[in-house]
Amino acid sequence: MKYDFDKTISRSNTNCIKWDYLDAFFGESDLHAMWVADMDFVAPPEILDPIKDRAAHGVFGYTAKPDEFYSTVIRWFRRRYHWDIEREWIVTTLGVVPALNLAMQEFTEPGDGVIIQSPVYFPFKESVDLNGRELLDNTLILKDGHYEIDWQDLEEKAGNAKMFLFCSPHNPVSRVWTTGELEQLGDICKRHDLMVFSDEIHADIIFRPNRHVPTAMVSNDLASRTIAAYATSKTFNLAGLQLSVNIIPDNKLRERFKLTLERLHMTMSNIFGMVGTQAAYKNGERWLEELIQYLWQNYLTVKKFLSEEIPDITVIEPEGTYLLWLDCSKLKLSDEELAAFFVQKAHLALSSGALFGPGGSGFMRMNIGCPKQSVLKGLETLKRAMDDDSPLVIDPGPANVPDDC
Ligand SMILES: Cc1ncc(COP(=O)(O)O)c(C=O)c1O
Repeated sequence: MKYDFDKTISRSNTNCIKWDYLDAFFGESDLHAMWVADMDFVAPPEILDPIKDRAAHGVFGYTAKPDEFYSTVIRWFRRRYHWDIEREWIVTTLGVVPALNLAMQEFTEPGDGVIIQSPVYFPFKESVDLNGRELLDNTLILKDGHYEIDWQDLEEKAGNAKMFLFCSPHNPVSRVWTTGELEQLGDICKRHDLMVFSDEIHADIIFRPNRHVPTAMVSNDLASRTIAAYATSKTFNLAGLQLSVNIIPDNKLRERFKLTLERLHMTMSNIFGMVGTQAAYKNGERWLEELIQYLWQNYLTVKKFLSEEIPDITVIEPEGTYLLWLDCSKLKLSDEELAAFFVQKAHLALSSGALFGPGGSGFMRMNIGCPKQSVLKGLETLKRAMDDDSPLVIDPGPANVPDDC
């Protein structure tokens, strides 16, 4: 390995949400943090050096994206996903969630139906609720340890929907959808004339032999109705730089989306977001390949530890992402008890499965984007908690979450 993923870097006192806001979210600060979907790894020098050079220049005036930004994105998409995108199709935003909210506001009306597939990244539901749209939940089915789409239910819900919020790869169940599944989904979207927002932010962290297939690549029809959102934020741990790359092949869809951005005067990007994204797509590939191998080893560590030491908790085999979906249903705890168990007895900050919607009950999401030692520390403390018979205290949880979290 060229890069050192074993190195522990303290993130305390950096105002990071994962480690510095434990008390605000969990009511306790002395927890081992494996929740927020960012990683504890430092970005590689191939990204840090250009950012440092740009910072050293010291003048941070209004700045546009250079041609090389676009050509680098285009090359990445060709190399990594075999997708030939055109420069005009690229529209940047401050993030993927802002893009999905803008798309919902522009392409649907209050009261329109929007499909999500729970258990899913919880801002999907929040966006539907906050924008006054009707939530249509096509809950995924867990069959023999593998999540699948309930096609019949999707077909029925699609009849009442205007938009489909699709998560590909899927957070938190770690599915990497196959071409066959995407084709079937495309047929349904076509028959019911659905607009598709395809959140592909996790597209780069995929475990072989799985392969990420961009939704819009599957058919011309899907390309004409899809906004696909990508970013370097998960891949290279640059979420704080706040830049996402949306690919919109259809002219009409794209012009409407761009107009929405123009109306809000949100067409420019942060300098460091541009420099970081360009550097990552240009020179970050080797680091990414090593990261994927490292994450797979972390998964194997969790799997082995659980099966030998805590057989009542099992892990769904991930096809991608650094988020593991732990099945804790054998503990026979309610969702409130399960959340309290992890905080009070295991002293672990994980994301409660219930947050991700109805299909998340009995599950916890564990983030393994951290050094192996940190994974082991979390597992050891979980093991000790299994032997703790003291009663759990269920309280509604703290309410002092900062506005910008
Ligand atoms: C599926 C998914 N979409 C979007 C995001 C966040 O995107 P952004 O920070 O660009 O808004 C996350 C972060 O966890 C995610 O898992």
